[in-house]
Amino acid sequence: MQFRLWAPFMISNLSWKEFWAMARTWLQWKEGRQKTGYDSLLLFLNPFLVPFHVLILRFPEGSRIPPHKDRAKGFRHYRLNFLIKSAKKGGQFITEGSIYQSKYVNFFRSDICKHEVTKIEEGSRYVFSIGWILS
Ligand SMILES: [Fe+2]
Repeated sequence: MQFRLWAPFMISNLSWKEFWAMARTWLQWKEGRQKTGYDSLLLFLNPFLVPFHVLILRFPEGSRIPPHKDRAKGFRHYRLNFLIKSAKKGGQFITEGSIYQSKYVNFFRSDICKHEVTKIEEGSRYVFSIGWILS
């Protein structure tokens, strides 16, 4: 029997083998899941009880995230983002409906709320991001 885990980047289930492969990328910048020029840095990954991960997202000039939903089959997927550094121009976070939103904080259901980051026109953008799932 294969024990499955939540995949913080792929938003699907993972095997332990896949989990450890991901854990080996700890503290290493990786291309973001959408592959549109942004990067993610895994700070913490918890596969147990309430699976969650903590990331830093880096958006260099020219990067963006197109509108999408992060589906987690059979789970509710929550994300809490803290803006560390905003771009000089562009890089606006847009979502259809946040649970809470302010200039620096965005809390939303990424599985049901379409969200995006507009193109970074000038400068760079950094976000501290915590994502978790609940059944
Ligand atoms: Fe997303």
